[in-house]
Amino acid sequence: MLIALRLVALAALMISVASPVLAQSYVWSLPAWLPPPPVPADNPMSVAKVELGRRLFFDQKLSGPSYISCSSCHMPEHAFSDPRHPSVGVTGAKIRRRPPPLANVGYRETLTWADHRVTTLEDQAHQPLFRADPPEMEANGHEASVVDRFEHDATYRQLFREAFPEKGGTVDFDQIIKALSAYQRALVSYTTPYERFRFGGERDALSASAQRGEKLFFDAKLGCATCHAGATFGPLAQKLLPGAAPVVYANAGLYDLDGKGAYRAIDRGLLESSARPEDMGRFRAPGLRDVAKRAPYMHDGSVASLEAAIDRYAAGAPTLAAADRFSPLKDSRLRGFTISAAERDDLIAFLRALNDDAFAADQRHGSPFR
Ligand code: HEC
Ligand code: HEC
Repeated sequence: MLIALRLVALAALMISVASPVLAQSYVWSLPAWLPPPPVPADNPMSVAKVELGRRLFFDQKLSGPSYISCSSCHMPEHAFSDPRHPSVGVTGAKIRRRPPPLANVGYRETLTWADHRVTTLEDQAHQPLFRADPPEMEANGHEASVVDRFEHDATYRQLFREAFPEKGGTVDFDQIIKALSAYQRALVSYTTPYERFRFGGERDALSASAQRGEKLFFDAKLGCATCHAGATFGPLAQKLLPGAAPVVYANAGLYDLDGKGAYRAIDRGLLESSARPEDMGRFRAPGLRDVAKRAPYMHDGSVASLEAAIDRYAAGAPTLAAADRFSPLKDSRLRGFTISAAERDDLIAFLRALNDDAFAADQRHGSPFR
């Protein structure tokens, strides 16, 4: 026992000698106004773990039949979402929801569109890997062969050893999931024109039109920030809106199939995890970072453009089926408002100023296989 421990310690020492950079703990180097995302005690960050997680995220070998990777649906060049609609899993099955973007995902208080119980990236990763209905990556049933692929690859063997020295080079899904989560916690975006203007003191970063749009977004008449500030601006929510609830689940009124607010059987929102009838059709108000880069919109891609999204809100969020019908379960804050064409352009200019192009171009977040 003692000898085994010594060997492990020795191995760890050799590794840290072999690659001092990879063994370092991870440093985000963020501006003073932005705290790093929270990190669970049992999955500390390290440079090696982030690098391993990045490789796994872009590698098709992680799916059971080796066809697709996490990045097949979360493409960095499309704000870590998917220009295809619907997205498809490894068996070709259509995926019912839009893949959320992953910039700043480490700050989100709850994950997925409508399951308040999923609060860590480690928990979330089980869904694409092991969920069966429909399968996304179908690692379930192929666990041994997936692990085998990595254990028989010299690059991975080295990376796993550096990321998890205590495991001595054996591979398991606990390590895979921890590494994927560490990589995703490293995806921190803070250089949108809006943030450079508002927090970085760059007076020229935001156009006059986008500045007018900012006022509209935070104006009580439109109410956008009541639901979207928390999810949009992560840890900044409290600063922007003292007392604002960080995560909002709301019914945006898209469907009313039975006159009582029924959503489609394929996706009934928060009700599925909470089992409370009033949660029918409630979904997490998504973050609007990079929103202009990832049409179509809403949980099911049913709204084609930002213009259409704003027009729906202005009209008081009628159902998709009929512009003069309103769901009884529609959130009461969606009362409608009048907005001129010029104001709508301003609001869209503001939403476009939530694109982080520098983050998108950052090679450290992209595929290591290029
Ligand atoms: C086949 C497409 C597809 C693949 C492959 C895929 N995802 Fe997703 N991802 C989605 C969809 C769709 C959702 C939304 C799920 C929901 O709301 O139920 C999602 C949600 C997420 C979320 C939650 C984000 C948030 O804001 O709540 C994270 C994190 C995530 N995926 C990470 C991953 C990782 C890591 C992998 C690889 C192990 C992966 N995804 C593979 C489609 C995919
Ligand atoms: C009552 C809360 C609420 C208010 C107010 C609100 N939204 Fe939303 N918004 C949501 C929810 C919830 C969704 C997702 C609905 C779904 O998918 O079923 C959403 C979706 C969106 C989307 C699509 C994002 C994506 O990733 O698909 C955009 C864009 C958007 N809202 C913009 C706005 C703007 C602009 C305003 C102000 C005019 C606004 N919202 C007001 C709750 C709200």
